Amino acid sequence: MSDLQTKIAQTIAVLQQAAREFAPVTFANSLGAEDMVLTDLIAKHQPDISLFSLDTGRLPQETYDLMQKVRERYSVPLNVFYPDATQVEPYVAQHGVNGFYDSVDNRKACCNVRKVQPLKRALAGKKAWITGMRREQAVTRGSLEVSSFDADHGLQKFNPLLDWTNAEVWEYIKANDVPYNALHDQFYPSIGCAPCTRAITPGEDIRAGRWWWEDPQNKECGLHVGKSSALKFTAK
Ligand code: ADX
Ligand code: SF4
Repeated sequence: MSDLQTKIAQTIAVLQQAAREFAPVTFANSLGAEDMVLTDLIAKHQPDISLFSLDTGRLPQETYDLMQKVRERYSVPLNVFYPDATQVEPYVAQHGVNGFYDSVDNRKACCNVRKVQPLKRALAGKKAWITGMRREQAVTRGSLEVSSFDADHGLQKFNPLLDWTNAEVWEYIKANDVPYNALHDQFYPSIGCAPCTRAITPGEDIRAGRWWWEDPQNKECGLHVGKSSALKFTAK
């Protein structure tokens, strides 16, 4: 068995364990490359795991295009959660539509309204959630575990792709003809909201294009917590 085949088998086993021991379980799908691997694996092997995306209202058009493709390609439904207008409107009134550039606090407040609060609704009533995080993605992700209790949200959290490499993610996508975000072909290895994501150049950290004006230690939006090492970008 190749390394990738072994990792695929281990990932399916983690999905099965999550579904068996922690039903109902849901997968947070940002539509990034890792999450498309998990979408494909869940649709093929564990379709009782539900899928959701947080639409912040500020996503790139390419992400919406992919959201539509997922709907056409897979029979498992992708549930989309939106921010509460009664929270977005006062935020914008106080800080402006692009107020997140002004300070880390303003940025975190925007992420809170547009992602963290909708995440709470998406996780309500669930016993576990799944993410596509990988250990080597960021200084903030080195100490994550495949399965651990998420005390912030009060349920189990699984990171089944934790030890996959970037090359393995792309090998899986190509081998299985998995749809992916067109921005990945334009030097965007990590994609979030349009105003907070830029293209990077070879040699830069793979998350250098996320909140690029901030210190790397701050680069989490409040969906996740954790610490440690970084990966440089090479063409896929
Ligand atoms: S972020 O916290 O910096 O935005 P990143 O884009 O690396 O995170 O994604 C890490 C994981 O968080 C994804 O694999 C996914 O599980 C979850 N996630 C991030 N953004 C979203 C989103 N908009 N909708 C659903 N899940 C998301
Ligand atoms: Fe707001 Fe940017 Fe966070 Fe998106 S990534 S929720 S636009 S601060």
